[in-house]
Order: sequence, then structure tokens, then C-alpha cells
Amino acid sequence: MKGTVLDLLRGRCRVRDFTDESIPDDVVRYILEAGRLSPSGGNEQPWKFVLVRDRESIERMAEIAYGQKWIRDAAMLVVLCVRDVDDRGIQKARFPGLDIESLDDQLYFRINMEEHQTKIPGTHMVLAAWEKGVGSTWISYFRVDELAEFLGLPSGYLPSEMIAFGYPKGDTEPVEKKDMDDVLIKF
Ligand SMILES: Cc1cc2nc3c(=O)[nH]c(=O)nc-3n(C[C@H](O)[C@H](O)[C@H](O)COP(=O)(O)O)c2cc1C
Repeated sequence: MKGTVLDLLRGRCRVRDFTDESIPDDVVRYILEAGRLSPSGGNEQPWKFVLVRDRESIERMAEIAYGQKWIRDAAMLVVLCVRDVDDRGIQKARFPGLDIESLDDQLYFRINMEEHQTKIPGTHMVLAAWEKGVGSTWISYFRVDELAEFLGLPSGYLPSEMIAFGYPKGDTEPVEKKDMDDVLIKF
């Protein structure tokens, strides 16, 4: 696939039907590199990426993702993991009217996962993959703690999302997006 970033974005869509072709190592590296170069608040890069390519693990992870069958045919899964950060300063600053301090530690970490910005490296990876003809779909519907245990993540890390990658089987068709007038508020 060639063209501008917008061309790539216009052509990209969720791909859940994959051929059984594996993704060459250099393309895998290209995809991961796109994730590594992502921006993050304070350049903390509070993430790890887990690369999973063996069939048995992919099937087990499909089960953990509430049995979503299509995941089993992916050539690889990348799990985006976030680091638990002790400091609640950012959320206290963003929501000064809320009693952030009183939240239970475990609960706070889990509902604060969005703050770790893993959707940015994921988005880079999806786009880099599409440039190389590799399709993908995001997955966030899974049992988080069970996946963390299965992957044996370092303590203090949780999986925030997974992305399934593979070569699309058949034609791909982008879904409708809202018109600019629907999404843009001119202030
Ligand atoms: C954060 C996120 C989580 C998602 N989780 C799942 C999922 O668990 N299972 C699934 O089949 N699709 C999942 N999707 C795919 C969406 O359904 C899909 O992106 C959406 O329908 C828009 O289609 P598009 O990707 O072609 O633009 C997820 C997408 C995002 C962005």
C-alpha cells in the first residue's frame, strides 16, 4: 500500500478474517518500531509490548478474550501493557473536585489504565502494518487479570489492549465514519 498518511487511514479498517500466511520478521519489526517511537506524557513510555506468534498461545488468548473465535486465525497478537504508576498527581490535577486519593489502589490502577496512553503505540502499529498490507483489529474485550497471569507479566504491569494482526483474506471494506460536521464543534 502506498500513499499519504490520510490515504492509509482512509483505507484501513478492522480485519477479522486472516489468511494463514505468517508475517515476515522484518515486517514484524517494522510494526513494533512504529509503536516504540510513540509520544507519551513526560516521555515516560509507561508500556511494554508482548509479541505472541505461537498458535497454542493465540488460541488460549482467544479464550481469555471471551472466546472471540476470529482471534484464533491471527498470525500474531501484540499485547499492549501498562505500568502501574503510584503517583495520582495527574488525575488529581485533572479532577480537582474529586476525592481521587480515597480510591482503592487496585481499582485505581485498573480504571486509570487509559491514562497510560497505549492506544497511541497501538495506532502507530496498526498504521505501519497496513502500510505493509497487514490487517489488524483491536481487542479490549478480555479478562485483564487472567491475561496478565497467562503472559507472566512483570509485577506492576497489566494488559490494556491486544491487537490481532494478519494478512486479510479477501477484500477489505472500510466502515462508514461520521461526517466532519457531526464530529467537529467550532468554538
Ligand atoms: C479500543 C478498541 C477495542 C476494540 N475491541 C474489540 C474487541 O474486543 N473485539 C472485536 O471484535 N473488535 C474490537 N474492536 C474493533 C472495533 O469494533 C472496530 O474498530 C470498529 O467497529 C470500527 O471499525 P474500523 O476499525 O474498521 O474503523 C475494538 C476497537 C477499538 C478501537
